[in-house]
Amino acid sequence: MKPKLRIFDDLEKLSIYAANLFSEQAAQSILERDQFLVALNGGGTPTRLFQLLATDFRDKVDWNKVHVFWGDERCVPPDDAGSSYSQARDVLLSHVQIQDSNIHRIKGELTPVEAAEEYSLLLKEYASPPFDWPRFDLVYLGMGEDGHTASLFPGSPVNVSDAALPVTAHYQDRPANRVTLTQLVFNSAHMVVFMATGAKKAITLAEVLSDRYNPELYPAQRIDPKAGELIWLVDDDAAGKLPKKITRKYCEG
Ligand code: 6PG
Repeated sequence: MKPKLRIFDDLEKLSIYAANLFSEQAAQSILERDQFLVALNGGGTPTRLFQLLATDFRDKVDWNKVHVFWGDERCVPPDDAGSSYSQARDVLLSHVQIQDSNIHRIKGELTPVEAAEEYSLLLKEYASPPFDWPRFDLVYLGMGEDGHTASLFPGSPVNVSDAALPVTAHYQDRPANRVTLTQLVFNSAHMVVFMATGAKKAITLAEVLSDRYNPELYPAQRIDPKAGELIWLVDDDAAGKLPKKITRKYCEG
């Protein structure tokens, strides 16, 4: 399916759009499947989205039917500031009526290998045959300035057979030991939403959305849902290097 690209003035408008997608996808999934399976990302960009879901959008979602997973995690204890779980817990999950048993975090306190194995087994419990993992109703992903997404980093193997992998990668001052879900899981989702902001990502975004396919160098290009929607939400700064032909090709009116 052709990706959709939406360009916003700022992170606030982008986050409101992303929150609307959450509440709409939740309502539809709960109607069709009596549950909403969503995978969150870490990093700075989703923080405003989490705040909006915990406030303005809280009553628009039947949190009892929501199951929260993560697309990746840093291997640090769950109370560590570097933990994506602790970020989402503190800003969102502790403010909504979601059952603890519906919060499926990656155990960052384990070694990357143990945590990846443990999470692969957990994903099997929610598997959507023929997959050994759930078909997420919604996946949020970010993109690093280097083109990584989740914890799929440049130079990592493009051909994978596992749902979850241990990773060691250095990006900014963030924890290097990580666990990531792979594109096998992301590409089986009903909807994948990228959020990327800031001028520092503009050159990379232009490459990722170009016709030049280089998934080893730009892991974000590995994300191509087979039977699902792919939506890029970016701000003007991140879109600053996009050639007209790309914005015309992917932007809806
Ligand atoms: C992580 C993320 C990672 C993130 C990008 C973008 O846990 O670090 O999953 O993939 O989405 O690094 O991060 P920013 O939103 O902070 O730019």
